[in-house]
Amino acid sequence: MSISPQQLIFQKREGRALSDQDIRTFLTAYLSGDVHDYQMSALLMSIVWRGLTEPELSTWTEVMIQSGHTLKINRDYVVDKHSTGGVGDKTSFIVAPIVAALGCYVPMISGRSLGHTGGTLDKLESIPGVKIPQTSQHITDLTEAHGLCFAGQTPNMCPLDRKLYALRDVTGTVESPDLISSSIMSKKISEGLRGLTLDIKCGNGAFMKTIDEAQALKKRMKAIAQAHNLDLNGVISDMNQPLGRYAGVRPEIYEVLQVFREEGPEDLVSLCLTLASQMLVVSGKYSELEKAKTDAKTVLENGKAYQKFCNIIKAQGGDISTLESPDFYLKSSETIPVSLKKSGYLTHIDTRALGSGLSKLGAGRTSTEASVDPQVGCLIHKRLGDPIEFGEPILTMYLGQKNDIGVVEQAADWFEVGSEPPDSQLLLQEVF
Ligand code: URA
Repeated sequence: MSISPQQLIFQKREGRALSDQDIRTFLTAYLSGDVHDYQMSALLMSIVWRGLTEPELSTWTEVMIQSGHTLKINRDYVVDKHSTGGVGDKTSFIVAPIVAALGCYVPMISGRSLGHTGGTLDKLESIPGVKIPQTSQHITDLTEAHGLCFAGQTPNMCPLDRKLYALRDVTGTVESPDLISSSIMSKKISEGLRGLTLDIKCGNGAFMKTIDEAQALKKRMKAIAQAHNLDLNGVISDMNQPLGRYAGVRPEIYEVLQVFREEGPEDLVSLCLTLASQMLVVSGKYSELEKAKTDAKTVLENGKAYQKFCNIIKAQGGDISTLESPDFYLKSSETIPVSLKKSGYLTHIDTRALGSGLSKLGAGRTSTEASVDPQVGCLIHKRLGDPIEFGEPILTMYLGQKNDIGVVEQAADWFEVGSEPPDSQLLLQEVF
């Protein structure tokens, strides 16, 4: 390196921008092992405090993309959706089949559980037999053949992000809008997309707690998308309560199957139709949002989206007979009702504590090597603002192998009841 790592760390620590060349050199040297983890940790911590300028962010993201391969899906209308993570968020399983049924191609690259939030890949693997494609070629082949595929980041997609993310996870440097947006967008741009729909979650169960934080993330993601000619739209959606009525691993697949049977809860169905219509537009396949939404609703109701879902689950090795018997997804070692000793209106849900509780019971993992327990989850009987009677169940918990009685005992504390209903909160805080 023409300039020493410590000089660049010092420069950023003092709040001065790094040049394009310095960023490229530092990151490339880190990937090859010439810059050490302790030096990169110091730079990351300086970025957490000082941030990146728009040109710095653009270069940082570009180097992450160039560290690996880009998918080449030889079709028009290649599109994906990304959610920044919440509790009960199962929309990927519904929107990808809807959009594929209407002629788009969705290489849905998802992650595993992270902190208190569930992981799409963990939920997917709870369907017996399902395998995650391991190579870019396999993802491409499945997407071209079926219109969609459920996959994870392969070793040659953004390897620099993989290395940086592992380091950020253990150095307290995850929560930076610059580092989050570059991490997410580099992986999405590596999918070779025409368009991307973002679902930025906002509230006590999300990484972004306030609308200001959510908008700051949106602004950075938009800037990165623009610099890489990627069309972007999306929503900022409420995460002050779980999405839908079920959270956990298999119980969320149960709710996905309910949506395909037209028995899904209103908030989940409405968010899915909004996201699907935005994907159809940002892919270039549709020009009008309203028409896209009408068609999305039609393929959800006439079974074409469900057929797409079954096809890809089968192609990925899944036992689709279980999809025809949704109760399979609610089987658990033990089912425990939780009730509140108060009557009134439900005024607050500590969504993060609920997600962390499920994670401790086995729906999430405490180390990257740990496995999740597919049976774990819960049914949330009430929504914010609903009336509740003394002793009425608020939760039904589905337990697996780990019966952590401490978590079950705390569950009632995740809810607050008051004498007046709270101000109603819009599910869609912003559509962009
Ligand atoms: N998800 C990612 O992929 N990267 C982050 O930095 C945070 C969430």
